[in-house]
Amino acid sequence: MLFRSKIAGIGHYVPERIVTNDDLSKVMDTTDEWIQERTGIQERRYGKKHEETTTTMAAVAARIACERAGISPQEIDFIVFATLSPDYYFPGCGVLLQRELGITKGEAGAVDIRNQCSGFIYALSIGDQFIKTGTYKNVLVVGAEMHSMGLDFSSRGRNVTVIFGDGAGAVILQPTGHATQGILTTKLHSDGTYAEKLAFINPGAHGGYHKKHTGEDIDYGYPPSDTYGEIFLTPKMVAEGMTYPNMEGQFVFKLAIQKFPEVIKEALDSLGYKPSDIDMLIPHQANLRISQMVQRLLGLRDDQVWNNIQKFGNTTAASVPIALCEAWEAGKVKEGDLVCLAAFGSGFTWGSALIRF
Ligand code: ACO
Repeated sequence: MLFRSKIAGIGHYVPERIVTNDDLSKVMDTTDEWIQERTGIQERRYGKKHEETTTTMAAVAARIACERAGISPQEIDFIVFATLSPDYYFPGCGVLLQRELGITKGEAGAVDIRNQCSGFIYALSIGDQFIKTGTYKNVLVVGAEMHSMGLDFSSRGRNVTVIFGDGAGAVILQPTGHATQGILTTKLHSDGTYAEKLAFINPGAHGGYHKKHTGEDIDYGYPPSDTYGEIFLTPKMVAEGMTYPNMEGQFVFKLAIQKFPEVIKEALDSLGYKPSDIDMLIPHQANLRISQMVQRLLGLRDDQVWNNIQKFGNTTAASVPIALCEAWEAGKVKEGDLVCLAAFGSGFTWGSALIRF
């Protein structure tokens, strides 16, 4: 028998520390005016150094989601954790979150998703498959990021650093017998052709692979080829600030405004809906200008789109569940509402989910 998944509980967490655009302009060559005009961002949150991590923030959001779903963390059957800023290179945050939640006897499985901005939509879709097939009864789906730990706070990194913030969001998926409620469909896409246009490549085991695909002949400071190891992270990479994310902003922007409407329409069309049927669109919070353009292209009113990038910046895998949780807490996502989640980001990967609350 096939079930449908409903969001039984939702929670989010953002750190207390607010970092304004003016704060950033004191350490790098940027201005509040530039950031607001290009992105809409006014401030973002940064986690407490030495205390908070992607996993600890996820645990706060997950506990709230469990409480709202009326379950204890011990009842979670499976965790799907989306992040690009894990606490450790390995093991992934899924198992660390299990430990934080006290699920320590191997009762539940956990997997990490590395799909950047569309990570939560991919994670939700994976969780949905487990519920639909009757495999699990309580799946915890999480998106969390601690970007502030790995950004370049010199002027060299300004195009990327000013955009990102920290936070976490989580949902509990459960089966529902309700014929019209739950996740109606998810649509997932990816294309690695332009993988390096928005990437964090060092440390990494790429050797000559980067040059092969970009044509760029960058000296990473590799030792001679007849020696062992030391490709993953070289002293030169650290000394010359090669260990930060890079992004060709305009290239990403142009594709984003094409793929967002495309994948939203794909989900709507597959079920015979129109954009006007959407009660709330929760777009990944990459840039307010992208969300506004998507809104215009779909002909949506202001009250049909949730934006919070002004307060939190781009929290990558966390942005969709944080925004969904905020909208739900504000009473703007209610039972019976048709909600569309959509994201586009590094990979490139993109996707949408249509949910009847
Ligand atoms: N402050 C001041 N000036 C800046 C800053 C800054 N923070 N950053 C860049 N500039 C300068 C540039 O150096 C450039 O100067 P120049 O003209 O003298 O060369 C000028 O501003 C314009 O730079 P652009 O990069 O062309 O600026 P753009 O208008 O494209 O805005 C932005 C940049 C905000 C990054 C935009 O391109 C964008 O939002 N792109 C999409 C991002 C996105 O969707 N990412 C996907 C999700 S993230 C993920 O998946 C991990």
